[in-house]
Amino acid sequence: MMPDTRVGTTFGHEFIGVVDQVGPSVQNLKAGDRVMVPFNVYCGSCYYCARGLYSNCHNVNPNATAVGGIYGYSHTCGGYDGGQAEYVRVPFADVGPSIIPDWMDDEDALLLTDALATGYFGAQLGDIVEGDTVVVFGAGPIGLYAAKSAWLMGAGRVIVVDQLDYRLEKARTFAHAETVNFNEHNDIVVHMKKTTDFLGADVAIDAVGAEADGNLTQHITSAKLKLQGGSPVALNWAIDSVRKGGTISVMGAYGPIFSAVKFGDAMNKGLTLRMNQCPVKRQWPRLFEHIQNGYLKPNDIVTHRIPLEHIAEGYHMFSAKLDDCIKPIIVAEAS
Ligand SMILES: NC(=O)c1ccc[n+]([C@@H]2O[C@H](COP(=O)([O-])OP(=O)(O)OC[C@H]3O[C@@H](n4cnc5c(N)ncnc54)[C@H](O)[C@@H]3O)[C@@H](O)[C@H]2O)c1
Ligand SMILES: [Zn+2]
Repeated sequence: MMPDTRVGTTFGHEFIGVVDQVGPSVQNLKAGDRVMVPFNVYCGSCYYCARGLYSNCHNVNPNATAVGGIYGYSHTCGGYDGGQAEYVRVPFADVGPSIIPDWMDDEDALLLTDALATGYFGAQLGDIVEGDTVVVFGAGPIGLYAAKSAWLMGAGRVIVVDQLDYRLEKARTFAHAETVNFNEHNDIVVHMKKTTDFLGADVAIDAVGAEADGNLTQHITSAKLKLQGGSPVALNWAIDSVRKGGTISVMGAYGPIFSAVKFGDAMNKGLTLRMNQCPVKRQWPRLFEHIQNGYLKPNDIVTHRIPLEHIAEGYHMFSAKLDDCIKPIIVAEAS
């Protein structure tokens, strides 16, 4: 849960829809258009937007020095209501949304508004060089897409780490990755070293974030006692699992207060750490090509389609990871 999530907020920052009405200054969209809306709210013209850093827009959030604007993701991220609703207000409508191309499946368009773009961005920030060994921590939607994208960027070997076997199975079938269940090893870092000639992977991607399992002390000091802004277990495993001079890409989200990250090890190993909230629309042109050319089929990871009126049960299943849930989507209108 993000800090400053207020009662009554509408969640949901991954959505598509049909334009119902446009404001007077909107020029590119009209009622009836099918649109996909990136999860970032951004102005398109500030210092950051001009540099493609849409997730770091300076004009859309009173907390803009810390974080950009995100739909349905707390007042820390601007207090915008999200898309898990019949109607949603979309500011800067000429900037973020795009008309969904006729050839694109609705579900694929939906996944492009966050998860796929983020997974791809995660691989991109890894600066993967041909033949690299890439280890991805987390086999949720972000990790699965990051693993799949790593191949598209030239990886020679892709390893996905999680503790949920049904997700690791998906990592094998969808992302064609090697998989490791971290619960089956006393020390996952030692295992990663052994499997990479005792050097370490070239690139590690943290697709887990603040809610990581795998270390009780970290869990208690973060989730229970709130002494740190999230449990950095996966990030620390990433730091320990890459070779000296390697690159870490952090897609996993962490809270605004500090976390006990092994920064000294990262420094002494000469690692490059790259991270951000995904500037979604920047990834679209290349991802559209990959989908159109058949290299990516985003909705292969969708496990559940839930009518909006059953959203409460959907949340329960999703948060408890029941029924082999990986990616549920909410359908506002059964048509
Ligand atoms: N940077 C961005 O723009 C951006 C965008 C979307 C999501 N995110 C963040 O990315 C992260 C992943 O999102 P998701 O939807 O895939 O989440 P998810 O919860 O579905 O997946 C996380 C996976 O990590 C696994 N896991 C837990 N602890 C682990 C550990 N120590 N090592 C390896 N795996 C571990 C869990 O079993 C789970 O399968 C979240 O933190 C999310 O907030 C960031
Ligand atoms: Zn801006």
